[in-house]
Amino acid sequence: MATPENFYEAVGGYDTFHRIVARFYQEVATDEVLRPLYPEEDLGPAEERFRMFLMQYWGGPHTYSDQRGHPRLRMRHQPFSIGPVERDAWLRCMKIAVDEEDLAPEHRAQLWAYLEMAANSLMNAWV
Ligand code: HEM
Repeated sequence: MATPENFYEAVGGYDTFHRIVARFYQEVATDEVLRPLYPEEDLGPAEERFRMFLMQYWGGPHTYSDQRGHPRLRMRHQPFSIGPVERDAWLRCMKIAVDEEDLAPEHRAQLWAYLEMAANSLMNAWV
């Protein structure tokens, strides 16, 4: 019996996640709120970490955990002050990236619900 496709495969696998994350970081690069938060001048390594994480989360390869261990996302975001303004900026960039994909409505809704929930849960400042 065929194994049911997971979300990662159903939306197009590596290519889809690569495009979404690359488009997201293209926005981050010129975003006045987000860009200053990123410690490294080169956004490439951050892009790669986020891409590996998202692929793993949705059922793709486990490269993120192989290289970085447990995600511990709240802990890893602690150095950055993330309030409503930063959360909204992050979601604005992400919405552009997701909207450019030709996802099935139920896949888009599932992905977006997760991203909104995750962005809310990573807030650590309320100013
Ligand atoms: C890392 C900002 C939301 C996943 C980072 C970094 C910054 C940042 C500045 C450090 C870049 C690096 O060197 O890797 C933010 C802001 C958010 C946000 C302002 C607004 C709410 C999210 C969400 C997710 C996420 C919603 C997951 C769905 C990650 C991952 C890393 C990361 C996986 C790399 C962690 C590692 O070091 O392994 N984020 N982030 N972030 N972020 Fe976010």
